[in-house]
Amino acid sequence: MMKRTLLSLLLCFTVYAVQAQSTSDEQDKVKWFTNARFGMFIHWGLYSAAEGIWKGERLRNGNNYAEWIRYRNRISETEYVRLAKRFDWDKIDPEQWVLLAKKAGMKYILITAKHHDGIAIWNSKVSANNLSKLSGTDRDVLKELAAACKKHGMKLGFYYSHWLDWEHPDGWDHNQEITGRITDEQYNKYWQGKVLPQLRELLTNYGDIAMIWFDMWVDYKSTIVKKEQLDQVINLIHELQPACLINSRLGLPANYPGIDFETMGDNQLGAVYTSHPWETSGTIANSWGYNALENEYKSTSQLLQSLIGNVSLNGGFTLNIGPRADGSVPYEDQTRLDEMGAWLDKNGESVYGCTGLGLRPDQHDWGRITTKTLDHKQIVYLQVYNWPLDRILRLTGILSKPEKAELITDAGKVNLNFVQTGPYTHIQLPNAAGDHLVSVIALTYPQPVELDEKVAAESTFDGTALTGSNTSEKKSSYKNVPFDGLRPSHLVIDKTGVLTWRVYIPGPGTYNADLSYHHNSKTAMQVKISVGDQQRLQSLKPTGKVVVEPHDSYTDEFVNNQIGEFVFPKEGFYDITLTAHPKEQEKLLLNRIWLSKKP
Ligand code: GLC
Repeated sequence: MMKRTLLSLLLCFTVYAVQAQSTSDEQDKVKWFTNARFGMFIHWGLYSAAEGIWKGERLRNGNNYAEWIRYRNRISETEYVRLAKRFDWDKIDPEQWVLLAKKAGMKYILITAKHHDGIAIWNSKVSANNLSKLSGTDRDVLKELAAACKKHGMKLGFYYSHWLDWEHPDGWDHNQEITGRITDEQYNKYWQGKVLPQLRELLTNYGDIAMIWFDMWVDYKSTIVKKEQLDQVINLIHELQPACLINSRLGLPANYPGIDFETMGDNQLGAVYTSHPWETSGTIANSWGYNALENEYKSTSQLLQSLIGNVSLNGGFTLNIGPRADGSVPYEDQTRLDEMGAWLDKNGESVYGCTGLGLRPDQHDWGRITTKTLDHKQIVYLQVYNWPLDRILRLTGILSKPEKAELITDAGKVNLNFVQTGPYTHIQLPNAAGDHLVSVIALTYPQPVELDEKVAAESTFDGTALTGSNTSEKKSSYKNVPFDGLRPSHLVIDKTGVLTWRVYIPGPGTYNADLSYHHNSKTAMQVKISVGDQQRLQSLKPTGKVVVEPHDSYTDEFVNNQIGEFVFPKEGFYDITLTAHPKEQEKLLLNRIWLSKKP
């Protein structure tokens, strides 16, 4: 008996040790990627020469994705391949893309080696339908790009459309959902005859490949691709280049063995802290491939905030450019990248190698937080999107006291004064922001910071909003409804229950409270708001509708109701509770309680 226990213990230990080993190997493998945080996507292929216009007609899809033009505008193979003649090889220079990425502070380049149109942009031996052959050049863009990346110390990855292929007779396009034309056997011919051999070329002829980025945004079970086929791809990559990363759009979940990081939906930014590696691929306007009709470009600060927001949730950002058929990068793309590069040059320490803090992701109305450990100290970076008018930056949730606070400016780091009380850090700001786009304040802590992730955050504007998303405890389950363009975010209180918020009060004082809500019951609804034994009973009248646009558009009206005053006898943490008893069919939509010190 004893022997068996010992043996199973030993076995357990070995399994555990092997698992721990493989997890740490996986972490090592992906480390460069989770440190990099910012990379360049390049969508460049035959479609680039169509520029989103076919025979005078714009793309037949509202998303403007110009790389889809062959499918969307129902272009024949014969006509489509003629686009190759528009490529200007005297001008095409992949080194320029690498230099642009480098200047932008990007740490890797990902290029569409083969997009859904099925046309390889390299000189592929597997299919004569490739850009080099079709446009009559002996140049291999990927060879040149790989050499330039090597020269400038840039990681290189390939996008490969494995699922969709509109060129191969046995490849998949969405219309086959209607025609049912392709059988599993035919599709496997495409897989064995094109996908695997082309991946082999990509992983053999271009040196170290940092990642292969696949593009199937549905679960493989819902389409023609088989798990065995995906496993073949993973095995091939592991055999040829074990260090090469694979993204989840292969069609498998992020935790499937062999998937190294998760790719979110297009332009879908993170919403919650996610501990496994992940990234968002994003565009500067709408299309990925060059589209001449684009005119809605995102601002540099919007793009920067996308990058910072993702890093604050442990993710990265792969930002796309769509060069034209002569290789040139549109001016609008270039200016954004140059500005982001200049910002990163100055503030990059708050992005590279950083992750997020375990506080509510969007609890501060001035911006976001990133963090890293440096020389055994924890650095917390406050990413200030909006410079407070009263020149006080209010940080909530860190109980530890920083040893210093510094603002990053063009002239270097400037020390700032601050006051630490409980979970509040108030930083005294100079008049001028540290940066026109996003200002960064670095707080240095001698040890890992101690957090209070339950306490409600102070607003920049003299008070604290207690909402459905910052309760410390909810006795009943209520639905949180986000801002829908007309109605504010609110909590739907449809049964009896108690909500609790944890607040911090820095010293004795009297506070005002008011409550913003909507309900359309026939009679008033009763709620009770309490702090310790101080209770305020409220009778909330029905609120009705408010006109959005004259004559035809009305929405629920949310009104503000005074609750009264609460006296806090001393410094410390307090619980504020709200008790509601809606009757059958009644709903109280709670927007917030606003708590602010009496002037
Ligand atoms: C989508 C599109 C594709 C684009 C990609 C980038 O999957 O089909 O055109 O390449 O997203 O994220």
